[in-house]
Amino acid sequence: MPQRTGELPPFKKPKLASTTLPLASGSRRAMLLTTPGTKRHPSSSSLSSSSSSSSIGIDSQRRSLPIFQARGTLLGQLRTLDCAVLIGETGSGKTTQIPQYLYEGGIGRQGIVAVTQPRRVAAISLATRVSDEKKNELGKLVGYTVRFEDLTSDETKIKFLTDGMLLREAIGDPLMHKYSVVILDEAHERTIHTDVLFGVVKAAQKKRKELGKLPLKVIVMSATMDVDLFSHYFNGAPVLYLEGRQHPIQIFYTKQSQSDYLQAALVTVFQIHQEATYSQDILVFLTGQEEIEAMTKTCRDIAKHLPDGCPQMVVMPLYASLPYSQQLRVFQVAPKGYRKVILSTNIAETSITIAGIKYVVDTGMVKAKKYTPQSGLEVLAVQRISKAQAWQRAGRAGREESGFCYRLYTEDEFEKFDKMTVPEIQR
Ligand SMILES: Nc1ncnc2c1ncn2[C@@H]1O[C@H](COP(=O)(O)OP(=O)(O)O)[C@@H](O)[C@H]1O
Ligand SMILES: [Mg+2]
Repeated sequence: MPQRTGELPPFKKPKLASTTLPLASGSRRAMLLTTPGTKRHPSSSSLSSSSSSSSIGIDSQRRSLPIFQARGTLLGQLRTLDCAVLIGETGSGKTTQIPQYLYEGGIGRQGIVAVTQPRRVAAISLATRVSDEKKNELGKLVGYTVRFEDLTSDETKIKFLTDGMLLREAIGDPLMHKYSVVILDEAHERTIHTDVLFGVVKAAQKKRKELGKLPLKVIVMSATMDVDLFSHYFNGAPVLYLEGRQHPIQIFYTKQSQSDYLQAALVTVFQIHQEATYSQDILVFLTGQEEIEAMTKTCRDIAKHLPDGCPQMVVMPLYASLPYSQQLRVFQVAPKGYRKVILSTNIAETSITIAGIKYVVDTGMVKAKKYTPQSGLEVLAVQRISKAQAWQRAGRAGREESGFCYRLYTEDEFEKFDKMTVPEIQR
C-alpha cells in the first residue's frame, strides 16, 4: 500500500508544448475552418464552474463552442461532399454539434444520421447531451442504440450507436437503407469495428450510387490521426480542419524512470493538491476498473487526514463499466472548497470532455486488447500509450486556460513510444 509520506517523483524542468499533434502535412485539399485570433473564451474567468452549470444556458454553451464559428462554412462543405474527414481538437464540439448542424441545415433529413462511438457509455452520454441541447426527450428526435438497449423511435433522426451495433445492422442490411449520413467518430482509436465499418460504409455508398438510391454521406471524425490515410481510403476526401481552443500546457517528465506508476501517480496528485488552488481540478489517467477503484479508495482515505488549510477533495472514478449515473458526476462542479480529482481510463482522452481540468497526471499506460498467437486468445493487457495518446492526454489540461501535465515517465521513454496507436486489427 502506498504511503502518504512519499515524495514527488523528481520532475525535469517543464517544457512548453503545443499539444496539437503535428498533423500529417501535405493534405492538398485541407481547409482551416476558423481563423486563429477569433476564438472566444466566454468562461475563462469563471473557470471550472462553467461548462455544466445551467446558469449559462445550454444554447449559449452551444454557441460558445469553437465549432460554432465554422458552422456556415462546414454546412456548405458537408452539403456538397459525399465523403469528408473532419479533424478538430477534443472538446471543440464535433460529436455533439455536427449531427445537429446537419439536421438543422436539412442535410440528410430523408433518413437517419448515424454517429458511431467505440464506447457504449459515450454513445449514451452523447445522445443524452444532444437531446438536452435539442430540448427534446431522449429517444424521440435523438436516440441511441447500444447492445441490449435501444432507445430510439420512428421519430429518431439523430442516432448515436456503438460501432459494433452499426456493424451488426449492416450485416442484415448492407446498403444501410435507414441512414442518410454515417458519421464514423473517434476514428483514430482504430477499433476493429470502426476499421471494418470503413469498408462496409464505402461499399454501401458505392452500391447505392450505382443503384440510383438515396446517396449515403460519410463523415470521418477524429481529434488526431493519419489524415492522409483516411482521406486516401475515401477516394481523396477533403480534410476539414477545425481550429480548436487550446492553451499552452507545461509538460513535466520525471527525471528517472518510475517502477511503480500507481505510487508515482498518488504522490503527484497529493503534491499538486497541497499546492494548487482548490478550484483547479486534476485528471489522472490510469488503466482499468480495479486499479481505479483501489486508487479511489486510497485517495479518499488519505484525503481524510490532510493538514489544516489544505482544500478538501472529491475523488471520482471514471471507466466504461461504471453505472451511468455515477459517470455523470464527473461533469458536476465540485462544491466550494473542494477539488475534483478524476481517476479515469483512456475514456477521458477523447470521448468525454470534462470542464475545469488544470492538471493532468499521465501514467503513460493503457489497457488495450491484444492478440496472443501462442494461446490464440485476445487478452486485455496493460501497455505503453502512443505519442498521439500522450498528446491527447496532455491536451485535456488546456481546454479553458493554460495547464500542466505531469508525465510519470522520462523524456527518453516518451521518445520511444509509438507515434500512433497501433490499430486493434494489427495487435
Ligand atoms: N454530457 C455532457 N454534459 C455536459 N457537457 C457536455 C456533455 N457532453 C459534452 N459536453 C460539452 O460539449 C462540448 C463539446 O463536446 P463534443 O461535441 O463531445 O466535442 P468533440 O467531439 O469535438 O470532442 C464539451 O466541451 C463539453 O463541455
Ligand atoms: Mg467527440
